[in-house]
Amino acid sequence: NETEHNSPQSQSSITSQMIPQSIIIGVRKGGTRALLEMLDIHPDIVVAATEVHFFDWDENYVKGLEWYRKLMPFSYPHQTTIEKTPGYFTSIKAPERIHDMNSSTKLLLILRDPTERVISDYTQVYYNRLENHKPVQPIEEMVIKNGVLNTKYKAIQRSLYDIHMSNWLRYFPLNQIHIVDGGTLIRNPLEELQKVETFLNIPARIMTSNFYFNQTKGFYCLRSDGKERCLHESKGRPHPVVNSTVLKELHTYFREHNERFFSMVKQTFNWH
Ligand code: A3P
Repeated sequence: NETEHNSPQSQSSITSQMIPQSIIIGVRKGGTRALLEMLDIHPDIVVAATEVHFFDWDENYVKGLEWYRKLMPFSYPHQTTIEKTPGYFTSIKAPERIHDMNSSTKLLLILRDPTERVISDYTQVYYNRLENHKPVQPIEEMVIKNGVLNTKYKAIQRSLYDIHMSNWLRYFPLNQIHIVDGGTLIRNPLEELQKVETFLNIPARIMTSNFYFNQTKGFYCLRSDGKERCLHESKGRPHPVVNSTVLKELHTYFREHNERFFSMVKQTFNWH
């Protein structure tokens, strides 16, 4: 499965489809698309175009590793292939399956404030439902049921980072999971990308000039190969204003989980 390419910069003219050496495992709404597209600026990185859902969806996993490999982009031998599927982080089966494929896979995990993540998750589902002409409920009615916090709400469960992380740490050592601060990636993308370059052991090639702030969007957009582009309009959507009592309930609920997560990963984050 190899193709000849004429590229003067490449160390070898042979390209092939490789199983990813690094995977962005989540978290959903953490900034996974931004992270992938920003890493794609790097000349030594190639990325899978779509979310593959190989390790979290049984119907794909049974298709086997060759099926998975064929979904990867062509790369030169010195390049790192990366795919992102945010559903892996909260999947019970993904850690063992990735470990079975290659126990030295470098894992990238982008996280943001768990309450912010719930609101972002709600907002995405809200718009999907509107598009499909399905009824929508205000976020307060999803988060609070019968006067108490609805801990069965999927968006809340996905924000219990300690619970999901403990699953990964059964298969991978902590130093093989690099955590990207999703809040910092929004405000200062280069700072986070440089840490990822170090983690992936690739030269620092992403630069300040690769980003410009777009006032209309309110987010950084990308500049590379002489082209400028922002992320899709579904990324960086305005969030609803949430009732402050409901917000407090969420902050209180996540506090203990966050503390547990911080001691698990020996790192703290500036979350509520
Ligand atoms: P919101 O749309 O709720 O603001 P994912 O790609 O994992 O679904 O994450 C989406 C989130 O990426 C967005 O959530 C947004 O906050 C964040 N993000 C980070 N950097 C961004 C950028 N440069 N442009 C747009 N969204 C960005």
